[in-house]
Amino acid sequence: MKLLIKNAAEVITCCGQAPKQGVAMNDLGIITDGAIVMEDGMIKDVGTTVAILERINEKEYEIIDASGKCVMPGFVDSHTHFVFGGYRPEEFFWRLNGTPYLDILQRGGGILSTVQATRNSSHAELKEVATRRLDVMLAMGVTTVEGKSGYGLDATTELRQLAVMAELNAEHAVDVVATFMGAHAVPPEYRGKTEEYVDLIIKEMLPAVKAQGVATFCDVFCEQGVFSIDQSRKILVAAKQLGLQSKLHADEIVTLGGGELAGELGAISADHLLQTSDEGIHALAANQVVATALPATAFCLQESYARVRTMIDNGVAVALATDFNPGSCPTHSIPLVAALAAIQLKMTPAEIITALTINGAAAVGRADTIGSLERGKQADILILDHPSHLFLIYNVGMNIIHKVIKKGSIVIDNKPR
Ligand code: NIG
Ligand code: FE
Repeated sequence: MKLLIKNAAEVITCCGQAPKQGVAMNDLGIITDGAIVMEDGMIKDVGTTVAILERINEKEYEIIDASGKCVMPGFVDSHTHFVFGGYRPEEFFWRLNGTPYLDILQRGGGILSTVQATRNSSHAELKEVATRRLDVMLAMGVTTVEGKSGYGLDATTELRQLAVMAELNAEHAVDVVATFMGAHAVPPEYRGKTEEYVDLIIKEMLPAVKAQGVATFCDVFCEQGVFSIDQSRKILVAAKQLGLQSKLHADEIVTLGGGELAGELGAISADHLLQTSDEGIHALAANQVVATALPATAFCLQESYARVRTMIDNGVAVALATDFNPGSCPTHSIPLVAALAAIQLKMTPAEIITALTINGAAAVGRADTIGSLERGKQADILILDHPSHLFLIYNVGMNIIHKVIKKGSIVIDNKPR
């Protein structure tokens, strides 16, 4: 199949094969009056419409006229927990009435109530709800999503979550990158015996995950009262030995030194980072760890936001993701994340686009194949209703996706609004 987009008011290329650090995040590589040539699911050429039409025979292509529209890479939502059973609406209001997130977890609620609901869900039930969630994400422009296990906390249910993601990756238009997160909380049967649970993860769960080949990354909720720095290190080092790269829920609620640990381990990303110290920020920059900001979580938890301005000004590569989950962040709205990034994190529009595309791709180890519009990359492309990328932020919380192209095929085609 051969597809041509032409006459785009702007093509945001986000060109690059690696995370963009610091000031480089402002480089969007914009082509005005741009065109993109696609063949067999891949990008063959990108340039001005005039230049492209000189190089090809238009008649051989299906044509999309993108006059008055902005064209950009598909969003990479590099941090979600989208495979889960049940919902927790009551908890949202308990928190608004003053009960802290970690207190709800300590009482056996929070993550643990989703663990109960997920253990009670069959493979088919989990797959059904997860499919519907991916459908909505795709309609809002997400072409690759990272998803974590961590609502099983036993080998059977963790593997069930990962198997659902492997099937969805094969069957759904959205590409799914799976992360094993058995260290998301200590399950009730191991209450007060965290070290024993850490052993179970290392001796049983990780080898089973490795044997089935169902995860690319290993993540840990490194937090006061959950998994300590030493326990997190132990799990991530064991995972690394099996070929699973490290991710970390770091310094979300308490300054534990998660940023420093991510640097020490050479993690692919460190996420949340609301409370990361200056030392932590320097460790991320020095070790090229992608810092994934999740402002919708800070918004929902009414916590202070990550110091993203300081991070970027100190040369860190920042990605933005939703953290969609049934507790701390029950939304997968990229437009909300983009608005919060501008208003609360003080990121520039260009930094926000970079953080949602090429840097998101880098946070899932795919900066060489997705996240930008350039020759040789997978043709995952968004066409917006408006002529400029500024509308993504300015139209606060609204879905302005006109078309989504996934691997060179149109998969979402909305009427112009
Ligand atoms: O990223 N912090 C730990 N994990 C998730 C929340 C999961 C939940 O509340 O169910 C997070 O915020
Ligand atoms: Fe998370």
